[in-house]
Amino acid sequence: MKRRLNIAHRGFSGKYPENTMIAFKKAVGAGCDGIENDLHVTKDGVVVICHDETIDRTTTGKGYIKDYTFNELQKFDAGVKFGKEFQGERIPDLDEFLEYVKDKNILINLELKNNIIDYIGLEEKVIDKIYEYKLRKNVILSSFNHYSMVRVKRYDGHIKTGLLCSEILYKPYKYVKLVGADALHPNFRSIISKKIVNSMHERKIMINAYTVNKDEDMKRMIELNIDGIITDYPDKLNEILQI
Ligand code: G3P
Ligand code: MG
Repeated sequence: MKRRLNIAHRGFSGKYPENTMIAFKKAVGAGCDGIENDLHVTKDGVVVICHDETIDRTTTGKGYIKDYTFNELQKFDAGVKFGKEFQGERIPDLDEFLEYVKDKNILINLELKNNIIDYIGLEEKVIDKIYEYKLRKNVILSSFNHYSMVRVKRYDGHIKTGLLCSEILYKPYKYVKLVGADALHPNFRSIISKKIVNSMHERKIMINAYTVNKDEDMKRMIELNIDGIITDYPDKLNEILQI
Protein backbone atom coordinates (compact mmCIF):
# COMPACT_ATOMS: atom_id res chain seq x y z
CA MET A 1 0.00 0.00 0.00
CA LYS A 2 1.07 3.59 -0.68
CA ARG A 3 2.72 5.70 1.95
CA ARG A 4 -0.08 8.25 2.15
CA LEU A 5 -3.65 7.36 1.33
CA ASN A 6 -6.17 9.63 -0.36
CA ILE A 7 -9.49 8.50 1.12
CA ALA A 8 -12.71 9.88 -0.37
CA HIS A 9 -15.13 10.91 2.39
CA ARG A 10 -18.66 9.61 1.71
CA GLY A 11 -17.29 9.08 -1.82
CA PHE A 12 -16.40 12.16 -3.87
CA SER A 13 -18.89 14.13 -1.76
CA GLY A 14 -17.49 17.58 -2.57
CA LYS A 15 -18.92 17.38 -6.09
CA TYR A 16 -21.44 14.51 -6.03
CA PRO A 17 -24.27 13.51 -3.68
CA GLU A 18 -22.69 11.94 -0.59
CA ASN A 19 -22.83 8.18 -0.02
CA THR A 20 -24.34 7.39 -3.43
CA MET A 21 -22.98 5.09 -6.12
CA ILE A 22 -22.12 8.03 -8.38
CA ALA A 23 -20.03 9.57 -5.58
CA PHE A 24 -18.18 6.25 -5.14
CA LYS A 25 -17.59 5.80 -8.86
CA LYS A 26 -16.38 9.39 -9.29
CA ALA A 27 -14.00 8.95 -6.34
CA VAL A 28 -12.42 5.96 -8.07
CA GLY A 29 -12.34 8.00 -11.30
CA ALA A 30 -10.50 10.78 -9.47
CA GLY A 31 -7.81 8.29 -8.45
CA CYS A 32 -8.57 7.90 -4.74
CA ASP A 33 -6.75 5.20 -2.77
CA GLY A 34 -9.74 4.51 -0.58
CA ILE A 35 -13.39 5.28 0.12
CA GLU A 36 -15.06 6.04 3.44
CA ASN A 37 -18.80 5.67 3.93
CA ASP A 38 -21.37 5.34 6.73
CA LEU A 39 -23.55 2.34 7.62
CA HIS A 40 -26.98 1.90 9.23
CA VAL A 41 -29.51 -0.94 9.39
CA THR A 42 -33.06 -0.93 7.98
CA LYS A 43 -36.19 -2.33 9.67
CA ASP A 44 -35.74 -5.59 7.73
CA GLY A 45 -32.07 -5.93 8.64
CA VAL A 46 -30.37 -4.63 5.48
CA VAL A 47 -27.12 -2.69 5.91
CA VAL A 48 -27.39 0.58 3.96
CA ILE A 49 -25.11 3.53 3.27
CA CYS A 50 -26.20 6.94 4.53
CA HIS A 51 -24.62 9.44 6.90
CA ASP A 52 -27.49 10.47 9.18
CA GLU A 53 -29.80 8.24 11.21
CA THR A 54 -32.66 9.87 9.31
CA ILE A 55 -33.08 10.37 5.57
CA ASP A 56 -34.42 13.92 5.83
CA ARG A 57 -31.29 15.88 4.87
CA THR A 58 -30.03 13.85 1.92
CA THR A 59 -33.16 12.33 0.35
CA THR A 60 -36.71 13.22 -0.64
CA GLY A 61 -38.03 11.16 2.30
CA LYS A 62 -38.40 11.74 6.01
CA GLY A 63 -37.84 9.62 9.09
CA TYR A 64 -35.44 7.09 10.54
CA ILE A 65 -33.68 4.44 8.45
CA LYS A 66 -34.48 1.88 11.16
CA ASP A 67 -38.21 2.43 10.55
CA TYR A 68 -38.12 1.63 6.81
CA THR A 69 -37.58 -1.62 4.96
CA PHE A 70 -34.90 -1.54 2.27
CA ASN A 71 -37.55 -1.62 -0.49
CA GLU A 72 -39.41 1.28 1.06
CA LEU A 73 -36.19 3.32 1.21
CA GLN A 74 -35.64 2.79 -2.51
CA LYS A 75 -38.64 5.02 -3.26
CA PHE A 76 -36.72 8.09 -2.12
CA ASP A 77 -34.28 10.02 -4.25
CA ALA A 78 -30.79 10.47 -2.75
CA GLY A 79 -29.38 12.67 -5.51
CA VAL A 80 -31.83 15.40 -6.42
CA LYS A 81 -31.31 17.54 -3.31
CA PHE A 82 -27.63 17.85 -4.26
CA GLY A 83 -28.46 18.74 -7.86
CA LYS A 84 -31.20 18.07 -10.43
CA GLU A 85 -28.72 16.26 -12.65
CA PHE A 86 -28.31 13.59 -9.95
CA GLN A 87 -31.98 12.66 -9.84
CA GLY A 88 -32.40 8.90 -9.70
CA GLU A 89 -29.60 8.14 -7.21
CA ARG A 90 -30.78 5.86 -4.43
CA ILE A 91 -29.59 4.90 -0.94
CA PRO A 92 -27.23 2.00 -1.76
CA ASP A 93 -27.02 -1.12 0.32
CA LEU A 94 -23.66 -2.52 1.40
CA ASP A 95 -23.89 -5.28 -1.21
CA GLU A 96 -24.10 -2.86 -4.12
CA PHE A 97 -21.07 -0.97 -2.84
CA LEU A 98 -18.95 -4.07 -2.16
CA GLU A 99 -19.88 -5.54 -5.54
CA TYR A 100 -18.58 -2.34 -7.16
CA VAL A 101 -15.31 -2.06 -5.20
CA LYS A 102 -14.42 -5.75 -4.99
CA ASP A 103 -12.01 -5.64 -7.94
CA LYS A 104 -10.73 -2.07 -7.42
CA ASN A 105 -7.95 -2.84 -4.95
CA ILE A 106 -8.64 0.19 -2.79
CA LEU A 107 -8.94 0.72 0.95
CA ILE A 108 -12.53 0.40 2.11
CA ASN A 109 -13.28 2.34 5.30
CA LEU A 110 -16.72 1.37 6.50
CA GLU A 111 -17.85 3.61 9.34
CA LEU A 112 -20.38 1.90 11.58
CA LYS A 113 -22.80 4.70 12.48
CA ASN A 114 -23.80 3.18 15.78
CA ASN A 115 -22.87 5.94 18.19
CA ILE A 116 -26.45 7.28 18.36
CA ILE A 117 -28.47 4.14 17.54
CA ASP A 118 -26.52 1.05 18.54
CA TYR A 119 -27.90 -1.30 15.85
CA ILE A 120 -27.90 -4.82 17.28
CA GLY A 121 -25.83 -7.19 15.16
CA LEU A 122 -24.40 -4.53 12.83
CA GLU A 123 -20.81 -5.66 13.43
CA GLU A 124 -21.56 -9.30 12.57
CA LYS A 125 -23.60 -8.43 9.49
CA VAL A 126 -20.83 -6.20 8.10
CA ILE A 127 -18.01 -8.64 8.85
CA ASP A 128 -19.91 -11.52 7.22
CA LYS A 129 -20.35 -9.38 4.08
CA ILE A 130 -16.65 -8.51 4.03
CA TYR A 131 -15.82 -12.23 3.89
CA GLU A 132 -18.55 -12.93 1.34
CA TYR A 133 -16.83 -10.48 -1.02
CA LYS A 134 -13.32 -11.64 0.01
CA LEU A 135 -12.33 -8.11 1.00
CA ARG A 136 -10.93 -8.63 4.48
CA LYS A 137 -7.49 -7.26 3.63
CA ASN A 138 -8.93 -4.11 2.03
CA VAL A 139 -11.27 -3.15 4.85
CA ILE A 140 -10.96 -1.07 7.98
CA LEU A 141 -14.03 -0.60 10.15
CA SER A 142 -14.33 2.58 12.18
CA SER A 143 -16.77 4.07 14.67
CA PHE A 144 -17.22 6.75 17.30
CA ASN A 145 -18.64 3.89 19.39
CA HIS A 146 -15.48 2.25 20.69
CA TYR A 147 -17.41 -0.54 22.42
CA SER A 148 -18.48 -1.53 18.92
CA MET A 149 -14.83 -1.70 17.84
CA VAL A 150 -14.18 -4.06 20.76
CA ARG A 151 -17.13 -6.19 19.62
CA VAL A 152 -15.62 -6.34 16.13
CA LYS A 153 -12.35 -7.75 17.48
CA ARG A 154 -14.21 -10.26 19.65
CA TYR A 155 -16.16 -11.48 16.64
CA ASP A 156 -13.09 -11.58 14.40
CA GLY A 157 -9.64 -10.51 15.54
CA HIS A 158 -8.38 -10.24 11.94
CA ILE A 159 -10.63 -7.34 10.99
CA LYS A 160 -8.87 -3.95 11.22
CA THR A 161 -10.49 -1.27 13.37
CA GLY A 162 -10.06 2.50 13.66
CA LEU A 163 -11.26 4.65 16.54
CA LEU A 164 -13.01 7.83 15.45
CA CYS A 165 -12.36 10.71 17.78
CA SER A 166 -13.23 14.39 17.60
CA GLU A 167 -11.36 15.61 20.69
CA ILE A 168 -7.70 15.79 21.64
CA LEU A 169 -6.73 12.59 23.46
CA TYR A 170 -3.97 12.36 26.05
CA LYS A 171 -1.42 9.72 24.96
CA PRO A 172 -3.69 8.36 22.19
CA TYR A 173 -1.30 5.45 21.51
CA LYS A 174 -2.12 4.07 24.98
CA TYR A 175 -5.86 4.41 24.41
CA VAL A 176 -5.78 2.74 20.99
CA LYS A 177 -3.89 -0.20 22.48
CA LEU A 178 -6.31 -0.38 25.42
CA VAL A 179 -9.24 -0.75 23.02
CA GLY A 180 -7.25 -3.21 20.88
CA ALA A 181 -7.65 -1.18 17.69
CA ASP A 182 -5.30 -0.78 14.71
CA ALA A 183 -5.79 2.89 13.95
CA LEU A 184 -6.92 6.26 15.22
CA HIS A 185 -9.27 8.26 13.00
CA PRO A 186 -9.10 11.72 14.54
CA ASN A 187 -10.64 14.99 13.52
CA PHE A 188 -7.66 16.58 11.76
CA ARG A 189 -7.79 19.58 14.10
CA SER A 190 -7.08 17.36 17.09
CA ILE A 191 -3.67 16.18 15.88
CA ILE A 192 -1.38 18.31 17.94
CA SER A 193 2.18 17.35 17.07
CA LYS A 194 4.53 15.28 14.96
CA LYS A 195 5.83 13.78 18.19
CA ILE A 196 2.43 12.18 18.87
CA VAL A 197 2.22 10.97 15.27
CA ASN A 198 5.68 9.39 15.60
CA SER A 199 4.69 7.74 18.88
CA MET A 200 1.74 6.17 17.11
CA HIS A 201 3.89 4.94 14.22
CA GLU A 202 6.47 3.45 16.59
CA ARG A 203 3.63 1.28 17.91
CA LYS A 204 2.41 0.42 14.38
CA ILE A 205 -0.80 2.39 14.82
CA MET A 206 -2.15 4.11 11.70
CA ILE A 207 -3.59 7.63 11.77
CA ASN A 208 -6.27 8.50 9.26
CA ALA A 209 -7.55 12.04 9.74
CA TYR A 210 -10.96 13.45 8.76
CA THR A 211 -12.24 15.68 7.07
CA VAL A 212 -9.45 17.57 5.38
CA ASN A 213 -10.73 19.86 2.64
CA LYS A 214 -8.58 23.01 2.54
CA ASP A 215 -5.22 23.11 0.74
CA GLU A 216 -3.34 24.36 3.79
CA ASP A 217 -4.82 21.62 6.00
CA MET A 218 -3.96 18.93 3.44
CA LYS A 219 -0.38 20.22 3.38
CA ARG A 220 -0.23 20.21 7.17
CA MET A 221 -1.39 16.58 7.29
CA ILE A 222 1.30 15.63 4.77
CA GLU A 223 3.90 17.49 6.84
CA LEU A 224 2.69 15.67 10.00
CA ASN A 225 3.17 12.32 8.24
CA ILE A 226 -0.46 11.23 8.62
CA ASP A 227 -1.13 7.85 6.95
CA GLY A 228 -4.56 8.49 5.47
CA ILE A 229 -6.24 11.78 4.62
CA ILE A 230 -10.03 11.59 4.46
CA THR A 231 -11.37 14.30 2.17
CA ASP A 232 -14.45 15.42 0.24
CA TYR A 233 -12.08 16.43 -2.60
CA PRO A 234 -9.90 13.48 -3.67
CA ASP A 235 -9.09 15.35 -6.92
CA LYS A 236 -7.56 18.32 -5.10
CA LEU A 237 -5.70 16.10 -2.63
CA ASN A 238 -4.16 14.13 -5.49
CA GLU A 239 -2.86 17.35 -7.02
CA ILE A 240 -1.31 18.37 -3.72
CA LEU A 241 0.18 14.91 -3.13
CA GLN A 242 1.87 15.09 -6.53
CA ILE A 243 3.60 18.43 -5.89
O1 G3P B 1 -14.93 8.55 9.13
C1 G3P B 1 -14.55 9.89 9.11
C2 G3P B 1 -15.72 10.82 9.20
O2 G3P B 1 -16.68 10.42 8.26
C3 G3P B 1 -16.35 10.86 10.56
O3 G3P B 1 -17.34 11.83 10.66
O4 G3P B 1 -19.65 12.64 10.64
O5 G3P B 1 -18.34 12.66 8.54
O6 G3P B 1 -19.12 10.51 9.50
P1 G3P B 1 -18.66 11.90 9.80
MG1 MG C 1 -18.24 9.01 8.21
